[in-house]
Order: sequence, then structure tokens, then C-alpha cells
Amino acid sequence: MAIERTLSIIKPDAVAKNVIGQIVARFEKANLKVIAATLKQLSRAEAERFYAVHKARPFYKDLVDFMISGPVFVQVLEGDNAILKNRDLMGATDPKKAAPGTIRADFADSIDANAVHGSDAADTAAIEIAFFFPESNIHTR
Ligand code: PPS
Repeated sequence: MAIERTLSIIKPDAVAKNVIGQIVARFEKANLKVIAATLKQLSRAEAERFYAVHKARPFYKDLVDFMISGPVFVQVLEGDNAILKNRDLMGATDPKKAAPGTIRADFADSIDANAVHGSDAADTAAIEIAFFFPESNIHTR
């Protein structure tokens, strides 16, 4: 197995529900380590830039509005197969379709407010991590 890094965002709905710790505990139980973290209010410009790849999608404006509706908890997770492992822990984008026991099944209310984001591949993980964290703020241990 390859040691990978992935970007995880606990979205405003889950931060507002006060379940940051419960979600991070799931990462830790799965042997993913938090190697960088920040609680942050995204500006509209930052959210638009982060989700620029979805600019043409009908939900783009709603997604940006939602992501700036409150603070987000942004982390870099590191571990064996971290990208896929995180996606498995998150569950499907739509919480109605997410497998029981996944983060979205347990904490998300709708496809618009779906609790967590996770990088979907190694190249996007590298870009997303660099978007939030200079290497000097990442602490492998
Ligand atoms: S992709 O690119 O095919 O994987 O698309 P997907 O993961 O389904 O969605 C990309 C991001 O857009 C969010 N999303 C939505 N937001 C609002 N409304 C609707 N209908 C909607 N559908 C998808 C989805 O949560 C993804 O956000 P992130 O932050 O990447 O999880």
C-alpha cells in the first residue's frame, strides 16, 4: 500500500452541528493521521476558485453559497491508501445513497449540505492540499 495524502474538508453544516471531533475520530480509527488542520471562513473568491472545475454545473452557485455559509474545518490526512479510504469513509455524494455507517449517511442532511469533501485522485489531492497549506504547515509524524 502507498502512503498518500488527501485533503478533507468538514463542511459548514457539520461544523454547525458540532461534530468535527466525531468525524475526525473516524479518520483516526481508520489509521489516517491529521498532519495539518485549520478552522477557516472561506471567502467567496476562495470558494469559487476551489470549485472552479464545477463552474459549468447547475449547482455551482449553490455550492459556493453553501461553502461560505460558515466556517469549514480543513485537514490534510495521511495514511495507507488515504484518498480512497477517505472517500469510503465519506460515503456517496447524496446522503440518501450513502452506505450505512458512512459519514454522510450519519451526519449529512442533503446533497447540497453533505458534511464532507475529500479529494478524488492523487493529482487533485496535491492541488487541493497546496491550495490551503504551504508544505511548512504540514507535519508528517
Ligand atoms: S463529480 O465531479 O462527478 O465527482 O461530482 P460530484 O462529486 O457528484 O459533485 C461535485 C461537488 O459538487 C457537490 N454537489 C452538489 N452541490 C450542490 N447541489 C447539488 N445538487 C450537488 N451535486 C453535487 C458535491 O457535494 C461535490 O462537492 P465536494 O465538496 O467535492 O464533495
